[in-house]
Formats: sequence, structure tokens, C-alpha cells
Amino acid sequence: MRQDEITKRRTFGIISHPDAGKTTLTEKLLLFGGAIKTAGAVKSNKFGKTATSDFMEIEKQRGISVATSVMGFEYDGYKVNILDTPGHKDFAEDTYRTLTAVDSVILVIDSVKGVEEQTRKLMDVCRMRHTPVIVFINKMDREGQDPYQLLDSIEKELSIHTRPLSWPIGIGSTFKGVYNLFEKQLQLFSPNKSNISEDVFDIENLNDVELDKRIGKDAANQLREDVELIDEIYETFDETLYRDAYLSPVFFGSALNNFGVKELLDTFVRIAPSPLSRETDKREILATEENFTGFVFKIHANLDPNHRDRIAFCRIVSGKFERNKFYYHTRLDKKLRFSSPVGFMANEKSILDEAYPGDVVGLYDTGNFKIGDSLSEGEQLSFKGIPSFSPEIFKELINKDPLKTKQLEKGIRQLTDEGVAQLFVRQPGNTKIIGTVGELQFEVIQFRLLHEYGASCIFQHLNFYKACWFTSTDKVMLNKFITQKSQYITVDKDDRPVFMAESEWYLKVVMQNFPNIEFHFTSEIKKVGDN
Ligand code: G4P
Repeated sequence: MRQDEITKRRTFGIISHPDAGKTTLTEKLLLFGGAIKTAGAVKSNKFGKTATSDFMEIEKQRGISVATSVMGFEYDGYKVNILDTPGHKDFAEDTYRTLTAVDSVILVIDSVKGVEEQTRKLMDVCRMRHTPVIVFINKMDREGQDPYQLLDSIEKELSIHTRPLSWPIGIGSTFKGVYNLFEKQLQLFSPNKSNISEDVFDIENLNDVELDKRIGKDAANQLREDVELIDEIYETFDETLYRDAYLSPVFFGSALNNFGVKELLDTFVRIAPSPLSRETDKREILATEENFTGFVFKIHANLDPNHRDRIAFCRIVSGKFERNKFYYHTRLDKKLRFSSPVGFMANEKSILDEAYPGDVVGLYDTGNFKIGDSLSEGEQLSFKGIPSFSPEIFKELINKDPLKTKQLEKGIRQLTDEGVAQLFVRQPGNTKIIGTVGELQFEVIQFRLLHEYGASCIFQHLNFYKACWFTSTDKVMLNKFITQKSQYITVDKDDRPVFMAESEWYLKVVMQNFPNIEFHFTSEIKKVGDN
């Protein structure tokens, strides 16, 4: 029974550069899963295109993203969990953390724009974690780039191997549909049609004259040539290579026109991995193990400032999670019981009694959880692979109201536990340096410190390039380094030492001068890529 629950689950994330079509695709997948009835039901989890720093917008988004953080639905005997990732680049860190909780991803690429900045960054994280990727090239109804060129740039810029499983016939105004190389089916495109199932034809042999009849002689000949070429230049599709994160199958379609989405979903549920095992500091935990384990990858504050509780999102790794049972919080060495855990179906949440590996449960929290915390049935373990990445923007937090120092301390600790930003403290002086990937977080912090903790602050820009966690087995050199560079040495939230590098050049000089010290751009020093 437990085994069935595990094998039927598919927990994944959809990633893309903003505007490539992630929201549209999510919505279409939910429609297929029967989880929503009408288009437009999924609110775009992104900020308004013009105003990026409007608090009400931020607050609204926080509200929306609780509801759409996880969207579960049943499809063809499978339980699919989509973990939503914020589209806005300032919330990239949130996205990286969510990627620790998925077993695979669907990468959406805009056929007109090709590989974009966020695509590269997100794929860096996927590669590091060996996450299997299916590529969906969207907006084929637009005058996009040549498909060979697109695949070429995906391979080169994202360092992945691709294998088209469908191939487009024409593009933009001449887009006629796709040939599904896997199912050997021709699928014809008609814009603005919601159901395309009647336009699918089995064409086992491409030399069949049926093909000429359906798409015209020229397009048919072109397709024959293309398919021959594809078989020559791309590797044969192999599910194991995909699950090993070596080969990415590619589909072409148009999410807006609901074209190619069902094929994507059908293939996805069939080939995507079921809940995978995960590495802890002690041992690997298999999804099939009897005892419950899980980890917190996201924390969401309550929108209502009168209720200081938060929702911690816990990915179940093994065993069965049950409501009202005591579980062991390994960092605090403390037992906790959850009387109203929430589960996520469609874009709604409701109290659940039990959940299985691959599922995400929302746990109401009054301050017990930090991102990365582990729960078990008593075993002392801590899940790996939830690193902090070096921020890109650094500012000193300056207290504007000495009477509220305690509130500020508490507030900034709690906000950084939630993962809003990273905190580095420099001694002497207890200087608080806040690091983020975007400017928006500073506004969020200022706003929330004031409204939730009554503390006011300002920020002063600091000229740092990267935060580098460092280690060394050479204790003498380590001490020499810490003493000589004391003005650049801070500690992170877990008291790990961090060197704040002013520039790439300066970091290189320091690395040359202290050869026995290792510098890292992520907090998880050992084997970051381990799942
Ligand atoms: P995102 O979540 O990745 O940021 O993208 P989203 O789905 O919001 O899509 C961005 C824009 O691209 C939307 O248009 C959406 O309608 C459009 N789009 C998505 N898929 C396709 C497609 O297959 N073909 C074409 N031509 N357009 C597509 P918008 O005008 O920015 O927003 P809206 O007013 O339509 O919501």
C-alpha cells in the first residue's frame, strides 16, 4: 500500500525566465488534472509588470503564493504535486530552496527569446542537484527562433544534452503542429481551440501519403528530412539517462493554445521519477522507509500581523506523516505535534490526516522552524542539500530606534530564519549585514520589521561582491587569515565563518595568499550537489 502511494507520486517544479509561460502552463496542467474548471483560476505568482516595489503588491503576492505554493492533483492514477516557484528574480533564493524539495523539473523556454538570464541561473541549480529536466519550448504560435538553433543554444548555454520527443512543423504563422516522435503521432494545431484531441493522427511511417494530405507536400517533405536529421544528430531517448539528469527530452507547443500540453503531461507522469531518496548528515533516507522523515524548505509568515504564526512547508521524504502524532525536531531536540497540518490540492489548502513521500504538508509554526530543519520519528539526522547561496547585494542594517533594539534583533532573526534574506554579523560592534539577491527584499524587511515588530531601520549600501564560506584543515593559516582579514570576517545564521569579498579581483588575491583555505559560494560546503 505504502509502495503504491510512493510510486504514484510526481513532485516537480516548473521553472522559467519570467514571461516564458510558466503560469499559463501550470494552469493548463491543472485543467487537465481537473483541479480547476476554468482558465484564469491560477493567479500569476509574479509582481505587476510596472510597479515592482509596491508594498500592497508584495503583501498581495504573499497571500497568493501561500495558496499556490503547492498545487496537487490526480491525473491518470498519478498524484501530481506542482511546487510553485516565484517568478520575480529578487526571490530567486526562494526558488532555489524550493528546488531542493522537487524530484524533477519542467523548464519552459520562450521560442522567441530562447535561453534567458533566469533560465541559466535556475539550470545551474538543477545541474548542481542532478535534477532531471524536461524542456517545453513554448509560444510556437509566434515567429520564434529556428528549432535547431534553439536546441543548440540550450545545449551550449545550459550544459545539458537534449533529445526532441516532438518536432514542430513550421513556426509562427506557418505553424501547423508537431510530430510526436515518441508516439509516432501527428498533431495538428488550430489556434484558440481548447481541445485538440480530435486532431491527432497515428502516422507510424513518415512516408505514408496521409502525411502529405494532412500538412501539404512541402511541409511533409521538410518533416521527413528533419526527422532523419534528428535521429542522426541527437542521442536516442533513454528514460534512465533522463532520470540520471544527463539527457533532457524536449517538447514543442503553445501553452496559451493548450497545444502540446497534454502530451507533455502524459509523458511526464510516465517517465518522471517518483519520490527520490535524500541524503542526510548520517545516511541516505529512502522514500520506502517505514519511519517518517521530512524537511522544511520554505516558511511563510502569516499575513495578519495580529497572528504571528507562520506556515512551514515540509517535504515528506519517507514514511507516513500523521496528524496529531509526535515528531522529533532534530535541531531543537524536541518533540512537536501538529494538530492541523494542511495539505494542498488544486490551489486550495485543507486539513489533512496523513501524507506520503513526495507530498508537502503545511505546518503551523510559532517560531520553532528555520529553513532546512529536519523532522523524524526520533532519529537524529539533518537533511543536506539546502544550502544558502552567496547573496549579490549587501547592506548594513542600522537601527533607528534604540528603544526597540530587542524587537529589531528578534525580528531580523525571525525574518532571516524564514529565508527572506541572509544575515551576517561582524564583530566587534555586532554589525548586521543583510545579503539578498534583489532590492525588493530590503523593502520587505523594512516594512515587516516596522509592522510586525515595531522596529524601524534604514540600510546603508556596502560594496561587497560575494559572501564566501571558508574552511581549512590548516589551523595556523586559518587563524592567521581570520586575524589579518578581521574587518571582512562575519558569521552566518548558523555561526559559520564567512569572508566578505569586496571584488572578484580581491578574492583572487586572497586565495593566492592563503592557498590552504578553501572558499565556497554556498554554505553547504561538502558535496553541494548531493540530493
Ligand atoms: P510566466 O508565468 O512565465 O511569467 O508567464 P505567463 O504564463 O504569465 O505568460 C506570459 C505571457 O505570455 C502572457 O501574456 C501569456 O498569455 C503569454 N503566453 C503564454 N503562453 C503563450 C503561448 O503559447 N503563445 C503566446 N503567443 N503567448 C503565450 P501577457 O499578455 O503578458 O499576459 P496576459 O494578459 O495574457 O495574462
